Order: sequence, then structure tokens, then C-alpha cells
Amino acid sequence: MNTKKFKVAVLGCGNAGAMYNIKNSKSKLILSHCKAFYENKKFDLLCCVDPDKNKLINVKQFYNLKYVHNSIESLLKSRISFDVISICTPIDQHYRNIKQIIKLKPKIIFCEKPIASNIKDAKKIVKMCKEHHIGLIVNFSRRWDSQLEKFKQNLNSNKFKNLKSINIKFNNGLLNYGSHMIDTLLYIFDDNFKKFKKVQLLDNDISSTLIKMFYDKTPIYICIEKDNDSSLFEIIFNFKNYQVMMLNGGRVWSYRKVVKDSDIKNNLIYSDFKFQKGSVLTTLSLAVSEISRILESNSESKYEGITAFQSQLLCDKILKIIQN
Ligand SMILES: NC(=O)c1ccc[n+]([C@@H]2O[C@H](COP(=O)([O-])OP(=O)(O)OC[C@H]3O[C@@H](n4cnc5c(N)ncnc54)[C@H](O)[C@@H]3O)[C@@H](O)[C@H]2O)c1
Repeated sequence: MNTKKFKVAVLGCGNAGAMYNIKNSKSKLILSHCKAFYENKKFDLLCCVDPDKNKLINVKQFYNLKYVHNSIESLLKSRISFDVISICTPIDQHYRNIKQIIKLKPKIIFCEKPIASNIKDAKKIVKMCKEHHIGLIVNFSRRWDSQLEKFKQNLNSNKFKNLKSINIKFNNGLLNYGSHMIDTLLYIFDDNFKKFKKVQLLDNDISSTLIKMFYDKTPIYICIEKDNDSSLFEIIFNFKNYQVMMLNGGRVWSYRKVVKDSDIKNNLIYSDFKFQKGSVLTTLSLAVSEISRILESNSESKYEGITAFQSQLLCDKILKIIQN
């Protein structure tokens, strides 16, 4: 039996890299790259890099790490090779960090979303990885969300009829929650990037920005709230016979059927809310399992860089329209 484990390094020990789990150490949820690799028997989480000394001490102890480095330069000097390197550094550093660690020739770079802080850097990252034959997988979490997958299957079946419109609401910025939202739309519609069109700004004031665009002939109304007090991330799909809501980022779903109104004759209304638990908080371990399958089979990910790049292109298009 092959017991060789895939070697992993995580760059950036903040929330996504390690801290979500260290701060919630009693939770069984896998919310950080460190925990996802640590819990998967196929991987050996060997190393973390972060300039923050306290985080490094904490992470080294928590995950019993063999190596920690306070800079990528120091990691490069160590000349240790890794099968996977996770990029969990701030978005505006992704390009510089990936350019540096490419010298270590990892087989896969597992990059936090979005790929970069601008479209130029995102393009360079995708190109660089391709040229060096490095798999680039971007953690747009919902690509591994089984409830969303179920919805997607129903979308292509006869259960839901005539998608009339989509209403979207989120906060925390276009590159942050917005990129997740855009990527979710692309995923739902089979990454059919060219069918997203006619992006227009409806309104932009101190409280929110309103965008309208189309997926084919379906209008999509996007409301970007500027108040970030509490997380907001929801999508409502309005079908002729159903209303489907993805709420709280996908922690909760609601399916409401169009039914005959029992009080008013010849009137149709939505049935009462029925909530189902979502699976968005289980995605990171599934993403990491997929990485192990890719490494074992020497194959490509179906979400290889380019899908994340298309999400970023669409975000960029919206951003330009808002800024103009
Ligand atoms: N997929 C998700 O749902 C999700 C959730 C949260 C964050 N993220 C993404 O994760 C990334 C990081 O976000 P965060 O919230 O964890 O940020 P954070 O600020 O909590 O953590 C970033 C860490 O990177 C470290 N760092 C900075 N420069 C570094 C360098 N050169 N080398 C190594 N480490 C360095 C910082 O010291 C910090 O500890 C972003 O791309 C963000 O969009 C994704």
C-alpha cells in the first residue's frame, strides 16, 4: 500500500489559513486550509509561513508543524519541496507570493479567492501556472457545495419551470463576497461566461449599489449593500412554479412552491417557507479531497484557474461600470 503523503505548505496564517479554526478550536467544522489538510490522511501539513510571529507560534503548536517561516524568502532558502502550497495571504499579495513560490515547483497551488486584486495580475497568475505546469485551484467554496449542486441539477431538470429573474444581495465588497456571488452564478450556469451580458448600473448611493445584468434572457438584479455590520449574502431564484432562496451564504435554503391561494379565488401565491440546512460550511474538506484525487490521478481539476479567472473578469466588468 502506498503510504506516501502529499506535502503541504500554507502561506498566511490569518483567518482562512489557520485562525478560523484556532479561534473556534472546539468547533468540528473545517474552516481553514491548515485544518482541512491536517485532518485529511492523504496530506502532511508540514509548514506555515507568516510574518506575524505570534500567529506562527500558535499555528506551529496547534498543528504540530515541522517547519515555520516568517517570510517566503526564508521558505525559498530552505529548498523543501511541496506537492501543494496554499495561498491564504491578503488578496493584493497573491500575485507577488505566487510569483515567488513558483520556484518551489509545487504540483498544485490552492489559492484563496479571488485570484488577485486586479484582472491584470489574475491573468498573469493563470498564465504563470500554466507555463510551469502547476495546477491552480481557487477556493470559490461553493463549487464544492452539495446543496448548490442539488439545486443545479434541479435547474436542469423539470422541477423548476421558467426562471423569470434572479435577485442578489450581498455586502463586504465586490472582490470579497461579490466574487463568491459571481462565481456561484457562473457555476450554476455551467461557466457559460459569454451569456452574462448587458451589465448596467441602476443606482449608486451612500447605502447601496444596484446593478442589472442578464444571463441569456434572464434578468439578474444585484444589490451591493455598503453597510458591513453583519454578513449579507443571499440569492433568490424566481421561477414560474417555485421560489428558491439561498440564504446566509448558503447555510440555509428555502424552497417555496407556487400554489393556489386558499383565501382569494384565482390567485396564486407562494407556499409557506420551508427551510433546509445548507452545506456551505463543509466545502473546504471536499476541496482538499478533490486535490488529493487530482494528485493521485495526475489529472486536471475541472475548475482549473480559468473558471476563477472568468469570475474575476465579470467582477471587473461590474467594478468598471460602478467606477465610471
Ligand atoms: N473562501 C472563503 O470563504 C474565504 C474566507 C475568508 C478569507 N478568504 C480569502 O483568504 C485570503 C486571506 O484572507 P484572511 O481573511 O485570512 O486574511 P487575514 O488578514 O486574516 O490573513 C492574512 C495573513 O497573511 C499574512 N501575510 C501577509 N503577508 C504575507 C506573506 N508575504 N507571506 C505569508 N503570510 C503573509 C498576514 O500576516 C495574515 O496573518 C484572501 O484572499 C481572502 O479573500 C476566503
